[in-house]
Amino acid sequence: MDKPRVFVSRVIPEGGLELVHQACEAEVWPEEQPPPREKLLEKVRGVDGLLCLLTDKIDGELMDAAGPALKVISNFAVGYDNIDVPAATMRGIPVGNTPGVLTDTTADMAFALLMAAARRIAEGAEYVKADRWRTWGPKLLLGYDVHGATLGIIGMGRIGQAVARRATGFDMRVIYFDPYCDPDKAPFVDVGLRCELDDLLAESDFVSLHVPLAEDTYRLINAETLSRMKPTAVLVNTSRGPVVDSDALFDALEAGQIAYAALDVTDPEPLPGDHKLLTLSNCLVVPHIASASHATRTRMAVMAAENLLAGLRGERLPNCVNPEVFEGG
Ligand code: DGY
Repeated sequence: MDKPRVFVSRVIPEGGLELVHQACEAEVWPEEQPPPREKLLEKVRGVDGLLCLLTDKIDGELMDAAGPALKVISNFAVGYDNIDVPAATMRGIPVGNTPGVLTDTTADMAFALLMAAARRIAEGAEYVKADRWRTWGPKLLLGYDVHGATLGIIGMGRIGQAVARRATGFDMRVIYFDPYCDPDKAPFVDVGLRCELDDLLAESDFVSLHVPLAEDTYRLINAETLSRMKPTAVLVNTSRGPVVDSDALFDALEAGQIAYAALDVTDPEPLPGDHKLLTLSNCLVVPHIASASHATRTRMAVMAAENLLAGLRGERLPNCVNPEVFEGG
């Protein structure tokens, strides 16, 4: 029997790619940059399955370009705001993602950014490299203590809870805002105190974002919410760039309305090298690498491949964001 035809929109770690190659006739986009829109539309034509990345916009037009053979869309990410899920559901196409396997790796990065911002690690490293280190200074590069500080977590899902666990090890007080969190299903929420967003913003020394990008989280951090934060506060974002209004963040950082921002994700993304946020010494930006450990990216690749293969066999995906496409939901 012919193998199913699939398109894989970038070279993913070997563990996952091998599974795809064994079971499918796969075309893999070989370049470092994502396929341009026109190429993507062309490459998906007639495929049975698509393994895509968060950099690919997967909408109704693309699903129609693929045509009726398309049985599954598997995203190499836990977030799936790049995919028009209702459009997939309407066409009966299951969409897979990679939850769980990147929780701790992402939480490690959120905490690393928090620490780096608090203790001005990137600035310190630049200072030394620039050959400006002349003596020990009583007021050189003073930062903020992490221990004893209040951490406000916005979005107490898996990653938010994993960040909360780390914070307890640093003797932080944890508060959180999450209108959707069911404490019975979130075993670690008991390390934090649930509160309203305004209280969280007013009380937190560190605010860490762990919400998906959706209508109600788009620009959740804006001029108004930033104005409610402490002038000594640090904002950490490892969720999605558009959760923060970049212009408002720039203004707040420049005016000293908040002390620091440490961002793994930005809007726009990638952030151009001449973006105004990069002119600020109190803004640390890394290129969306929170899940980028060797082990985690391999686990994500295997999981994405397993979702793809299950969909091609017409089976329920191990991790499906629109299970309603299957009988019984
Ligand atoms: C995701 O999975 O959504 C991250 O942003 C990348 O790992």
